[in-house]
Amino acid sequence: MAWFSTSPLWLTCFCLCVLSVSAQLQRIEHPAKADATLSLVVIGDWGRKGKYNQSEVALQMGRVAEKLNIDFVISTGDNFYDDGLIGIGDAAFEDSFSRIYNAKSLQKTWYNVLGNHDYRGDVLAQLNPILGKIDKRWICQRSFIVDTEIAEFFFVDTTPFVDKYFYKPKHHKYDWRGVLPRKKYLSKLLEDLDLALKGSTANWKIVVGHHTIRSIGHHGDTIELKMQLLPILEANNVDMYINGHDHCLEHISSTTSQIQFLTSGGGSKAWKGDINKNNLDGVKFYYDGQGFMSMELEKSNAKIVYYDIFGQVLNELNLSKGLQISAM
Ligand SMILES: *[C@@H]1O[C@H](CO)[C@@H](O)[C@H](O)[C@H]1NC(C)=O
Ligand SMILES: *[C@@H]1O[C@H](CO)[C@@H](O)[C@H](O)[C@H]1NC(C)=O
Repeated sequence: MAWFSTSPLWLTCFCLCVLSVSAQLQRIEHPAKADATLSLVVIGDWGRKGKYNQSEVALQMGRVAEKLNIDFVISTGDNFYDDGLIGIGDAAFEDSFSRIYNAKSLQKTWYNVLGNHDYRGDVLAQLNPILGKIDKRWICQRSFIVDTEIAEFFFVDTTPFVDKYFYKPKHHKYDWRGVLPRKKYLSKLLEDLDLALKGSTANWKIVVGHHTIRSIGHHGDTIELKMQLLPILEANNVDMYINGHDHCLEHISSTTSQIQFLTSGGGSKAWKGDINKNNLDGVKFYYDGQGFMSMELEKSNAKIVYYDIFGQVLNELNLSKGLQISAM
């Protein structure tokens, strides 16, 4: 007894154990339906108090969510424009989120990641669990895992990877609390992700981040993620990478692995009008306007559908575990 209370060795062990546990990505269990299927909708780049067709997209999303009886919603970030939330009391939380996505079918958990615009405000406000008291749907963390058994979703905080926010911040200020020192933050994140992916036995491995890896939209590819994140996804047989950032809907197949790059960034302002024609490798679908995406997962099939602001189907694809893709 005396040894336990006084030994520095014991104290060291205790501290190391606590550290290694808390350093891993937090895991949230969200079981699939009883028949082992899962359905959800994905939206990105949205919070503009209903403007730029945000409300129209929300209305159609509610209809599709009802039809599919969704289990949850994924937000790919840039949740509040232009500069995130100013604090936990910011009215934008309700004006851009609670009041807009008010359909009954959307009263499910929302798993949110942060986008670069979210980092321009009080980043800790969006991460504060107190927001869950204002709207119980809200779950936002930097990097975390949602385990549905049939699929595992790995949410990754991509903004800190992008050099220009650090070296050429122009007139924008970023709230890097919790991120610095940056190198350590990124290497730890990649290490934790790699470990979690290696340990995953889920049928589908799906990674979600704000920034693009492959895109032909306004921002295009994110070179830092191509160099640092993509090799880990490829090494671990990730099936899909889902992102926002480019305000469009798109599907690009990797030409070097089975990964499908799915962009759902059409939650509000869109129509940038630029397409980067330099690298059209693997491009299957591109829509430069507002809309959202749905996903229906079964053990051996994933059906992904893109919709416009009228709820019209723009594109549909099936991914099967045999690696064949059939697109419309
Ligand atoms: C809203 O959507 C319609 C139909 O896609 C589009 O023509 C219009 O430009 C959009 N409005 C804005 C402000 O983006
Ligand atoms: C995808 O699979 C479903 C059945 O699960 C089928 O109804 C649909 O036509 C398929 N779509 C494409 C584009 O192959």
